Amino acid sequence: MKFKTLALAAALLAAANAAQAQGAKLKVGLMLPATGTFAALGSAIENGFKLYVAEQGGKLGGREIEFVKVDDESDPAKATDNVNKLIKRDNVDVLVGTVHSGVAMAMAKVAKDTGTLLFVPNAGADAVTGPMCAPNIFRSSFSNWQPGYAMGEVMAKKGHKNVVTITWKYAAGDESVKGFKEAFEKAGGKVVKELSLPFPGVEFQALLTEIAATKPDAVYTFFAGGGAVKFVKDYAAAGLKKNIPLYGAGFLTDGTLEAQGSDADGLLTTLHYADSLNTPRDNSFRLAYAKAYKLQPDVYAVQGYDAAQMLGIGLAAVKGDVSKKAEIAAAIERAKIDSPRGAFSVSKAHNPVQDIYLRQVSGKENKLVSVASKALADPGRGCRM
Ligand code: BEZ
Repeated sequence: MKFKTLALAAALLAAANAAQAQGAKLKVGLMLPATGTFAALGSAIENGFKLYVAEQGGKLGGREIEFVKVDDESDPAKATDNVNKLIKRDNVDVLVGTVHSGVAMAMAKVAKDTGTLLFVPNAGADAVTGPMCAPNIFRSSFSNWQPGYAMGEVMAKKGHKNVVTITWKYAAGDESVKGFKEAFEKAGGKVVKELSLPFPGVEFQALLTEIAATKPDAVYTFFAGGGAVKFVKDYAAAGLKKNIPLYGAGFLTDGTLEAQGSDADGLLTTLHYADSLNTPRDNSFRLAYAKAYKLQPDVYAVQGYDAAQMLGIGLAAVKGDVSKKAEIAAAIERAKIDSPRGAFSVSKAHNPVQDIYLRQVSGKENKLVSVASKALADPGRGCRM
């Protein structure tokens, strides 16, 4: 009898705590770069995330959102400490981050170990929705494999046979090139040289000289942020642009066109977003973003916006009770996310299954050329939920 009374009291207390927690603000830890070559990308993600929250009246799943921020500096060496600060010191309920694949892998490890909900709004590390996949980890962006694979098919169809690749030597660059090579060589092309330099280096001269000496049909590249600006300008200044066509994963020209100017004109890239989709959904998003921030949105802003949408879908299903992880996952898994890029769903490994667009730079825009790969799903190799 006494035991029954105690058990009932404990259950009532737990229910009261849960109800109180649901009434409390939901703490979202934003772990993004605020400095370094990816600073602008972090800022666009934060803007996009906050725009969606603002459109919902500042609440997701009925709970007001409070933000705690950490500048991760795109530094993998500081990543575990940074994410532990958010979880242990700041007691965040949800983690959102980040841009850099190496930092994201450290976040995914901690999220997996602690069971904390993690939404990845950029970093494409294949492992996050591969061997490190978990029921509490979701990505609103892409896997590094996706845009690379799509471009491999595009460049083979264009008739290029011998290609040099150039990128930063870290997970994102390596995996982007690997995805490209998989599709390009399957279609009969050959990657004749793989060039790289350490992240976030921008000393491209010696590598550009090597490209000129190799004389490939074309070049495939992965660079982003400040490094992409410098690479496109240096490629043109070296006189390579007119003789050896340059292609890339779309990060090469997204959020960078103001700074790249006419040196980017005509470049073809593949990505899950373009500036001229001209759908009602994208037009309203672009208008709202421009009004809120006096800036044009880019792919990073879209990914931040969609990370907030995914969190909102999960929280709505559990009325803000973040402890109900399985129900949150189930809600996101069955959702069609109404993204400005076009509606998408997530794969079993929680990566977007999405159209990859071929875009061409014209003026200050990445103009839509065609859908390069329809509903492209990352293979999710090694994922065991
Ligand atoms: C990455 O590290 O995964 C990444 C960084 C910038 C743009 C795209 C991917």
